[in-house]
Amino acid sequence: MKDLIEEITGIFGPSGSEEKVRTVINKKISNYVDGIETDKLGNLIAFKKGNGEGKKIMLAAHMDQIGLLITHIDENGFLRFTKIGGVNPKRLIGQRFILANGMTGTVGVEKVDEEKEIKFDKLYLDIGASSREEAEKHVSIGDSAIYKPQFDVSGNRVISSYLDNRLGCAVLIMVLEKLKKSPHDIYFVFTVQEEVGLRGAKTAAYQINPDLALAVDVTITGDTPEAHTMDVALGNGTAIKIKDQASITHPMIKELLILTAKKHGIKHQLEVLEHGGTDAGSIHLTRGGIPSGTISLPIRYVHTPSEMADLNDIKASIELILRVLGEEI
Ligand code: CO
Ligand code: ZN
Repeated sequence: MKDLIEEITGIFGPSGSEEKVRTVINKKISNYVDGIETDKLGNLIAFKKGNGEGKKIMLAAHMDQIGLLITHIDENGFLRFTKIGGVNPKRLIGQRFILANGMTGTVGVEKVDEEKEIKFDKLYLDIGASSREEAEKHVSIGDSAIYKPQFDVSGNRVISSYLDNRLGCAVLIMVLEKLKKSPHDIYFVFTVQEEVGLRGAKTAAYQINPDLALAVDVTITGDTPEAHTMDVALGNGTAIKIKDQASITHPMIKELLILTAKKHGIKHQLEVLEHGGTDAGSIHLTRGGIPSGTISLPIRYVHTPSEMADLNDIKASIELILRVLGEEI
């Protein structure tokens, strides 16, 4: 499991540039499914056939990751940038970033007196070039960059850049490896452009038109010193989302998840997230409405290069998904 997480969190794939992630996942799962295709926006849609008596279920995990997008190259070779997804400019100084071609740079800041002045227009990416001409050999306007991948195991926990949401992708891959049989027709969808507005899931859900859907994504915790009050903690099991800013879990799905977890003794916790959303936010508003919910992986330090997850929470999440797929719905 750790090897898979390390591999999949290390692949370059910011929103809009998910090709490499898609290629790796396609290779890993193609032997386990009855069909696989890439749709027009770049979502990878894999299909596993049921026995004809079940429902049509969509599982969604987003492949894309947050990052930077280069907007300008100055005459001295410094790069200016904007954000892709939820990036906090105050946390970027000194961070290492990597471009698709492997070029690495670090983020510097212009003179500021107070932290609150640190905005994107005070920051630049230094890739070691000393002129615009030199920089242009390696980078163009519109190129994107990601945190340089880092992965560590510390006790029962993993620390990595981009657990959001390659961990969700890894969980779906492991579910596919373990899934024996299910009455349901299941669509495993690895979506694009979640971090910029839950976009890929929208067209995928329209095309598939499932009876119900589950997003698999990360959520934040309230278990660090003086954290914002939130009733999710690392190590307390898989998190069943009740609501976030983009969706309220459908009552039928909520009951299905809670009862299944209880029935099989799967460690779980209930999640109310005050900000943010998952692919369920756009899936449930598709067509005439699709009952949807989210199984969340609790993560500390979300959207930093050092996101932390608990291995037992990951196992509990895999088990809950497998059990739900085995239920009659
Ligand atoms: Co995110
Ligand atoms: Zn996410």
